Amino acid sequence: MGPNLDLDVVGMGASRKGNSGPYLRGMLALSGIEKAYPLAGGSLPVLKGIDLNIEQGEMVAIMGSSGSGKSTLLNVLGLLDGFDSGGYDLDGVNMAGLSEKQAARYRSQFLGFVFQSFNLISFKTALENVALPLFYQKVPRRERQRRAMEMLGKMGMDDRADHLPSELSGGQKQRVAIARALITSPRVILADEPTGALDSTTSHEVMEVLREVNATGITVIIVTHEADIAAQCDRTIRLHDGVIIEDGKSGEVVEPTAHGARSQD
Ligand SMILES: Nc1ncnc2c1ncn2[C@@H]1O[C@H](COP(=O)(O)OP(=O)(O)OP(=O)(O)O)[C@@H](O)[C@H]1O
Ligand SMILES: [Mg+2]
Repeated sequence: MGPNLDLDVVGMGASRKGNSGPYLRGMLALSGIEKAYPLAGGSLPVLKGIDLNIEQGEMVAIMGSSGSGKSTLLNVLGLLDGFDSGGYDLDGVNMAGLSEKQAARYRSQFLGFVFQSFNLISFKTALENVALPLFYQKVPRRERQRRAMEMLGKMGMDDRADHLPSELSGGQKQRVAIARALITSPRVILADEPTGALDSTTSHEVMEVLREVNATGITVIIVTHEADIAAQCDRTIRLHDGVIIEDGKSGEVVEPTAHGARSQD
């Protein structure tokens, strides 16, 4: 049974779901983004000119082979990492050259993160893990607990509130992690291989949760290696060696050949 999400998305206008209309400027707008990692005696270019517009309310998969730059791109979108050149506007605000403090403020205001390895704190209960972002927002304890319990309830996890992560299944851990990502009412969820550690049935359940999250108007961006996960998103972007080689409706973006080109069949 799927969760019954009734999320309050602050500041959401009329639905602009889908990517059929022409983009002028998306909620997340990248232009010519380049990023290299410093390397002994040089540097390793990883993003080589990324142009990307994602509208509020879209559900987007990012695919591509290992090392193609997917996580790096997600980290740039999530203000977890900077970039060398190009432009990034988030909700119309230029994100270039933010201080760490400003980036942290935008992250806590706009963004929620979900990871393959869940990243739950092992010695805290499910409830405490979900409540933690509110602690950093200085929400009083009682209110934190009330909201965390409510969010766990929306994930169908309120009966596991007192469990430590080690006392939860993989799918349950990811539900807790999604509840933690949602607790601050973000407008965008960024998920790096959220189903990468889960079996296919559990992956499907987690994708159902993320689809419900998206149905409330929250933009969802998912890095995945799995075509059937990407197929559950509306749009798929394929990276190859630091550039976007395909961008289209999920299902129309086809499996690449070994060289990353579009296959003929
Ligand atoms: N902190 C870092 N310092 C140096 N090089 C890095 C760093 N992080 C990533 N890289 C390199 O950048 C390239 C892209 O890495 P990234 O993690 O974005 O790939 P990915 O597409 O997410 O791969 P995977 O599917 O294996 O997770 C890789 O060649 C990687 O070795
Ligand atoms: Mg990665």
